[in-house]
Amino acid sequence: MEGAYIFQCIFFILLAIFSYFTFKHNNKASKIKSKLPPGSLGWPYIGETLKLFSQNPSVFFDSRQQRHGEIFKTHILGYPCVMLASPEAARFVLVTHADLFKPSYPRSKEMLIGPSAIFFHQGDYHSRIRKLVQNSLSLTVIRSLIPAIESIALSTLESWCNGTIISTFQQMKKYTFDVAVLSVFGELDSKYKDRLKYNYHIVDKGYNSFPINLPGNLFRKALLARRRLEGMIHDKLIETREKKWEQINLLNCLLNYKDENGKFLTDDQIVDNIIGVLFAAQDTTASVLTWIIKYLGDHPDILAAVESEHKALYVSSGGTQTSLTWADTRNMPYTQRVILESMRMASIVAFTYREAAVDVEYDGFLIPKGWKVLPLFRNIHHNPEFFPQPKEFDPSRFEGVLKPNTYMPFGNGTHACPGNEVAKLEMLILIYHLVKNFRWELASPKNGVEYAPFLIPEEGLCAKFWKKSDAQGPAPSLHITQS
Ligand code: HEM
Repeated sequence: MEGAYIFQCIFFILLAIFSYFTFKHNNKASKIKSKLPPGSLGWPYIGETLKLFSQNPSVFFDSRQQRHGEIFKTHILGYPCVMLASPEAARFVLVTHADLFKPSYPRSKEMLIGPSAIFFHQGDYHSRIRKLVQNSLSLTVIRSLIPAIESIALSTLESWCNGTIISTFQQMKKYTFDVAVLSVFGELDSKYKDRLKYNYHIVDKGYNSFPINLPGNLFRKALLARRRLEGMIHDKLIETREKKWEQINLLNCLLNYKDENGKFLTDDQIVDNIIGVLFAAQDTTASVLTWIIKYLGDHPDILAAVESEHKALYVSSGGTQTSLTWADTRNMPYTQRVILESMRMASIVAFTYREAAVDVEYDGFLIPKGWKVLPLFRNIHHNPEFFPQPKEFDPSRFEGVLKPNTYMPFGNGTHACPGNEVAKLEMLILIYHLVKNFRWELASPKNGVEYAPFLIPEEGLCAKFWKKSDAQGPAPSLHITQS
């Protein structure tokens, strides 16, 4: 009898403990469930991936923002995601609580760029590399690059004037690659540069291909070209170590860095970061430049205002100015605003990715550990509350003061773009010479867009360019975008 009583007591105690933990667990689970942001996770495994790819991604994100508000969940490319379309939420993830989120990139991108590249890291290693990249792109350094950038801009523009129709984006890529090479290595001999270009081009093509390593496919070719690129940069490291250097560029900054224990960066760390910066610099800047050509073509009044700003600059120099000075580049406020507005309108980096490193609570919603978090720059840039009539191309909106954290073409916080000043400078220099000395017309004035991988005008904006001094002008059949 006594034994049965003791057994009953133990049974009830165990039941109570079990119920307590079950309740606690269920309660936690239901609490998590109830706190997830609104939105649909779509079908098991595939989530809403097919919906995203069957329509323009901007439409996908806009429609969900309209339905659910500025924070919503979805499931794309195999991951549950929380989308954030408010400036405050973007700031929370990228600036004030950046330590709760880690960078997140597909493995295939890491394989092609290199695992030690700045983008894939945070914490101490990231801030050390970031300082080196920032030093190599400081205002003092980039102002010394003006003559070389100008010379690249002029020879690039001249090369377009051969009477053929070109893909503006593909040609802009050549320009931005040459400028990136200049800021990474300084002047290079043309043979080395050509080989670098050749191999980089193959890596670039594979970067946007389906990441399967099969003989003969683009991804495999890219991996092989990446190995050749690595070998070439290794050779350059050996050669540079043997020489005394004077120039400040990324290669030299990375080579000379020693940590507090006197340890240098490894060759692999240097190579990965060099390839990384080339990647970060080329397509982004080329995409924005392509949009600028499109917007100027679509708005003859704005193009005329840019042209008259450039004329005034020329006249103020006594009509003798042949090349731009640093002061000139700081003295083109209207052209600067055209660049800022083009970056807002096009928002080529429409969003960025992070991954929640722990369960995070924001604004009453739970972002579970492991979920992807995407601050949606494009949605913020196109919100009429911050940018009235957001579909209008209007550089004058940058005359006033913007609401904080509403304009982030270069990101924000710990991973914000360290190349933003050189990007703006090279765009300004090219636009200045283009508008001053050249004309262009669109071969087929289409309004479609494509992703390459950033948003660009359809077919890379096919156009024909010629020199103003060339009397020949356009073929009569072409649509003229510049008078
Ligand atoms: C108009 C052209 C450009 C745009 C729109 C742009 C945009 C961005 C954005 C949005 C980020 C932040 C990504 C994130 O938070 O996940 C970023 C990062 C970065 N950008 Fe740019 N970028 C441009 C040009 C350049 C250039 C010319 C360079 C170098 C010469 C460069 C180097 C980098 C690097 C190294 C990072 C990574 C920074 C880090 O992780 O700390 N970018 N860029």
